[in-house]
Amino acid sequence: MRADVQLTTIERHIMETQKKYPEARGHLSKLLMDVAFAAKVISRDVRKAGLVGVLGLTGESNVQGEQVQKLDELANDVLVNVFNNSGLLAAMASEELAASVPVTKLTLGEYVVNFDPLDGSSNIDANISIGTIFSVLRMPRPGDQGKDEDLMQPGYRQVAAGYVIHGSSTMLVYSSGDGVHGFTLDPGVGEFLLSHPDIRIPDKGYIYSVNEAYYDAWSEGVRQYISSLKKPDAQTGKRYSLRYIGSMVADMHRTMLYGGAFLYPPDKTNPNGKLRLLYEASPMAFLCEQAGGAAVDGRRRILEVEPTSLHQRVPFFIGSKQNIEELMSFIRKYDK
Ligand code: AHG
Ligand code: MN
Ligand code: MN
Repeated sequence: MRADVQLTTIERHIMETQKKYPEARGHLSKLLMDVAFAAKVISRDVRKAGLVGVLGLTGESNVQGEQVQKLDELANDVLVNVFNNSGLLAAMASEELAASVPVTKLTLGEYVVNFDPLDGSSNIDANISIGTIFSVLRMPRPGDQGKDEDLMQPGYRQVAAGYVIHGSSTMLVYSSGDGVHGFTLDPGVGEFLLSHPDIRIPDKGYIYSVNEAYYDAWSEGVRQYISSLKKPDAQTGKRYSLRYIGSMVADMHRTMLYGGAFLYPPDKTNPNGKLRLLYEASPMAFLCEQAGGAAVDGRRRILEVEPTSLHQRVPFFIGSKQNIEELMSFIRKYDK
């Protein structure tokens, strides 16, 4: 290997970032390293997903006689276990659990975390990219055991957020308010190495991402906007492309790198769309804004939405600044 090649592990990167904040006591750094560790464990299990049926004896249990868990339960258990033992949290909430999990340790931590252990799980069986999403907030009542309300904070209060994408490679992308940085797992050494420093989303992109099968049920503004993308762009004459994976993490990872817009609009039967505020929309909005993009619910920034319940859904429009502005002008013109 050439001596001038920089190998920056995620641990080193987190520690270097911490040095910029002399008052920091390293708790957030440790928490992010725990996330990186959990990501490696989940990645190992995801990489074996297609073998579960092969390795299992009956389909019910695996070679060791253990129950073969669904991958989203497994990812959930890994994260709950790692966070529970970290001593850094007061509570956590997961898409997979109805209520928040209070951390019952002698020392209660100063942070709380919301997470989606496995996003895009309907794609697992087809070997399509899936992900994990996390959102870190300060515990509002440090020293106490965390409750649901402690996790229900507006997104602008996040101190860190990120996602892991299990794609053709495994990547961890995070921000602690100092830009967005991407790390690729080197499976040979088992380390996340800095591969995408300071990700910036282009100001305008030409890919839109939405489940267009619901077109009929959208508002007039959203329909008119999507229809407008089927003609060359009025300013540049460029044509748009449609890409929809159906794993928000994967669709958003592409949107962050190439630009464009990802939409999960409300429709006639789902007035708040499908995606959940606290562990899907809010952390993605934090990352996208950190990268220079925008995220709205059709009226205001996602980061300013006041949560009213742990699993609430929110209309979600996110991506390059100009694309989101154009979409908003259609919503303002046609909706109400
Ligand atoms: P999850 O697997 O965590 O339940 O989330 C799935 C979400 C998201 O990843 C994706 O964008 C969306 O569901 C796809 O929904 P549609 O099938 O309605 O397009
Ligand atoms: Mn999800
Ligand atoms: Mn999920």
